[in-house]
Amino acid sequence: MTPPFSDILVRRLARARRVAVLTGAGISAESGIATFRDPGGIWEKFSPEELANVRAFLRNPELVQGWYAHRRRLVEQAVPNPGHEALAALERMVPDFTLITQNVDGLHQRAGSRGVVELHGNLTRSYCIDCRRLATAEDLDALAEGVPARCPDCGGLIRPDVVWFGEYLPVAAFEAAEAAARRAEVFLSIGTSAVVYPAAGLPLLAREHGAYVAEVNLTPSAIAGYVDEVVEGAAGAVLPRLVQAVRAASRETTPASGVQNGRKEA
Ligand code: OAD
Repeated sequence: MTPPFSDILVRRLARARRVAVLTGAGISAESGIATFRDPGGIWEKFSPEELANVRAFLRNPELVQGWYAHRRRLVEQAVPNPGHEALAALERMVPDFTLITQNVDGLHQRAGSRGVVELHGNLTRSYCIDCRRLATAEDLDALAEGVPARCPDCGGLIRPDVVWFGEYLPVAAFEAAEAAARRAEVFLSIGTSAVVYPAAGLPLLAREHGAYVAEVNLTPSAIAGYVDEVVEGAAGAVLPRLVQAVRAASRETTPASGVQNGRKEA
């Protein structure tokens, strides 16, 4: 079966020493976690105005905490899929590899990716809005009794460690993401609609700085017209094939094959 990606992408990845990847909700869709903007997605069923901004939280902390507790349970029950696993494998093949994610589900880490740059936080962490102390599972248990969860030290409300609408991205994470995009030789944008900035600007920044940019998506995203290659397909199916092809291509081009018979390849 013809692969959905080009030989150019495979060869560039096999040669690259610096690779950056941006992922969005689409990579976790095959783990059963709903995306935001697809039919049946999170923002079709719930309103961001009521749930994902600080005003909504202060107005009704119990509702917002309850919604995140529900999402946390879904994430805990989910398992990483072959797409997450393929990216963890690719990381082990590339000397300078940065995985940047907009996802808050921690599935990349559970698949074995290291040093993941989380642009929008992680819903498995929560903290006190007053003293910033990280919350424990016991601190969150108050919710079960029908009252908002509060910090045992100072009584402040506990919020999930995610970026809400109107909030800034964590500065260190965004700087690391921009730096990785600037130095990448290949940049992959995977499972994101690429409509939420500044994250959506990273593939374009990488391209401006000379990277070969490819996106992997079920359907072309908002930036599809600005990238070098659009790979249409499910991340969980495309990425394992891509990594397998890169591994095969790397074997063909490693210096070891060039020193056979004691002669170096020209
Ligand atoms: P979206 O829901 O906007 O987009 C999901 C993308 O994944 C779409 O382009 C789908 O076509 C694609 N997709 C779905 N299933 C796929 C699959 N199996 N394989 C490949 N692609 C697939 O999600 P994001 O782009 O991640 O922000 O959304 C960006 C941000 O908007 C989120 O981080 C969140 C949201 O508001 C915050 O919460 C701050």
